[in-house]
Amino acid sequence: MKILVLGGDGFCGWPTALHLSAHGYDVTIVDNLIRRAIDAELDVQSLTPIRSIDERLSLWKEKSGHRIKFKNIDIAHNYHALIEALKEADPDAIVHFAEQRAAPYSMKSPRHKRYTVENNILGTHNLLCALVEANLDTHLVHLGTMGVYGYAGGRPIPEGYLTVTLPHGETQEIVHPYSPGSVYHATKCLDNVLFHFYNRNDGLRVTDLHQGIVWGTQTKETAIDPGLVNRFDYDGDYGTVLNRFLVEAAVGHPLTVHGTGGQTRAFIHITDTVQCVRLAIENPPAPADRVRILNQMTEVHRVRDLAKMVSETTGADIAYVENPRLEADENELLVENQGLQRLGLVPVSLQDGLMQEVLDVAERWRDRVDLAKIPCTSKWRSQPKPGESAMETAAE
Ligand SMILES: NC(=O)c1ccc[n+]([C@@H]2O[C@H](COP(=O)([O-])OP(=O)(O)OC[C@H]3O[C@@H](n4cnc5c(N)ncnc54)[C@H](O)[C@@H]3O)[C@@H](O)[C@H]2O)c1
Repeated sequence: MKILVLGGDGFCGWPTALHLSAHGYDVTIVDNLIRRAIDAELDVQSLTPIRSIDERLSLWKEKSGHRIKFKNIDIAHNYHALIEALKEADPDAIVHFAEQRAAPYSMKSPRHKRYTVENNILGTHNLLCALVEANLDTHLVHLGTMGVYGYAGGRPIPEGYLTVTLPHGETQEIVHPYSPGSVYHATKCLDNVLFHFYNRNDGLRVTDLHQGIVWGTQTKETAIDPGLVNRFDYDGDYGTVLNRFLVEAAVGHPLTVHGTGGQTRAFIHITDTVQCVRLAIENPPAPADRVRILNQMTEVHRVRDLAKMVSETTGADIAYVENPRLEADENELLVENQGLQRLGLVPVSLQDGLMQEVLDVAERWRDRVDLAKIPCTSKWRSQPKPGESAMETAAE
């Protein structure tokens, strides 16, 4: 099978490309390397020293015997190159990771909000439009986020669809309501609307994987050689919560819990991410199927409980700091996630010793940590809403 991995130089995309290549797929990575440019913009670097894409790919060929091709294309702004790449590859499946994925980055300034919307929505729409124009029957697997639903309800979040009774008594299945918590999350809701339109109008086969927060860094394939190591973000914009705690513990920095740490979130280890994507590819929806939505997460944790777990393992202190986000202090979270398990996922969990493995990675590269980059400085709102005093904004 031929696969395009869009965003295949990134944190989820690189290990997925290697995993699929190791399983015999003919993989082409499409990436405009913007994530490396954003590192330079923010003056940060991956905790792990990642090599250039060319070095990564020639090392993978040397170590595995498999060739992964690479095309440098901005899918949001170079429609012509994208459609040519699609026609040339005629892929059985496309995995779409190529979006700006950090909520704090998306809220930094008007420029960052506009960049995130332009990049993510134009990129996704170009891809859908090009698949139709090229007349390809390719299965599109997109990475969405559990954050599209917000974190308000105590009811289980279904896999995409909800059966409701309308006012006149008729029952209907509708897409579960969206409630995005940032501009980034809003782009994932808009992506989902586009998928529904192109699926209904043009019969495109789409799987939207609503992924939890990914933790860990290495997979079986990235661990083959230090030159294949995956990226590891720990900074205030791109670092995800558990990976940040593990780096903070490794460098003797207090674990920075936002607010009370009562936020309950869904998590998945990177080794399960790559398996989920492969399982989705190996089990495509049938031609007439509606958009398939699967909740790609394996466990749920409260942030302060994670901090306590890391603190008990490492002796690190915990610091409760002001929460830069506008979100509920405390929430419950129940998620239905049987879809991927039915397809064969056997998930790993936090108890499986993987936390120690990540700590070892963090300790090995601790000299590369810039402590000044740890705090999250992006604010969700800098001025009061109409009718609200500045004091009320500060209190939120
Ligand atoms: N990391 C997580 O915890 C997490 C959680 C839920 C969902 N996701 C989703 O998974 C996907 C991948 O996340 P990640 O952590 O690997 O992000 P990442 O930033 O590490 O990787 C994204 C890659 O896409 C590329 N890219 C971005 N815009 C592009 C464009 N216009 N054209 C071509 N390439 C482009 C970047 O250069 C980068 O290599 C994202 O869509 C994200 O929303 C990630």
